[in-house]
Amino acid sequence: RTVYVNGDYLPEEDAKISVFDRGFLFADGVYEVTSVLGGKLIDFEGHAVRLERSLAELDMGMPMTRDALLEIHRRLVAENRIEDGMVYLQVTRGAADRDFAYPPEGTAQTVVLFTQSKPGLADSPAARTGIRVATVPDLRWDRRDIKTVQLLYPSMGKMAAKAKGCDDAWMVEDGAITEGTSNNAYIVKDGVIVTRQLGPEILHGITRAAVLRFAREAQMKVEERAFTIEEAQAADEAFVTSATTFVTPVVEIDGVAVGKGAPGPVAQRLREIYLEESR
Ligand code: PDD
Repeated sequence: RTVYVNGDYLPEEDAKISVFDRGFLFADGVYEVTSVLGGKLIDFEGHAVRLERSLAELDMGMPMTRDALLEIHRRLVAENRIEDGMVYLQVTRGAADRDFAYPPEGTAQTVVLFTQSKPGLADSPAARTGIRVATVPDLRWDRRDIKTVQLLYPSMGKMAAKAKGCDDAWMVEDGAITEGTSNNAYIVKDGVIVTRQLGPEILHGITRAAVLRFAREAQMKVEERAFTIEEAQAADEAFVTSATTFVTPVVEIDGVAVGKGAPGPVAQRLREIYLEESR
């Protein structure tokens, strides 16, 4: 596999990052994941815009223009012959002596991109059967709108869910669901799609934005507000969205079946529309 590191395209085994990299020492970096379907990048523009915002929130600038980033994405997809899969992009504040203060202006950022092939990504078993989630308290920091590489808690949450025989965790704060470990969370009740409003409590999903736009265009009702575990368990349907899972039905929450305990029509329809419109 060819990866990109700071201007070079290299075999993955030759790629090197400093042990002093602030991404490694302080999780001082941000990332994006863009899906590839049929060799085509899905919503690159949205991910590039969010990258720029995440960087700005941490007083960092874009390492290069959006077009230059797009070029790297395309080259890696081509060189690695990715039909279905994803491109991962990470930008960190770079390497410097270990110090809590940011390094001096002009310190070179570290820019890394790699691909992961996932044949049949759009036709995953999870989309057909739905997933089961367990709730965990949301113990992340208060700026979840910044897509930092600080992912230990979501990782722990996912493992806690797996230990309970579930596929993923939904995180809960002040009695309300914030989001999944790596996806945005939704419920459907009496035809209304409910998902948490944007704010620092959740990541502003690129897939979320697209799905809500398509839902409104299809005359579906959308409410952006917080919802509780009990409300979710009593809903007709539930689902999650992310760049890598598109729209995936949730059929069980903390052992309670949602609706009929099978993927619901709204989630299935939104998945079809999303895949059709973004391919
Ligand atoms: N995760 N919420 C969280 C906490 C996420 O990590 C993600 C994405 C999302 C969905 O955002 P988007 O629709 O832009 O992918 C919501 C990516 C896929 C990951 O970490 O692999």
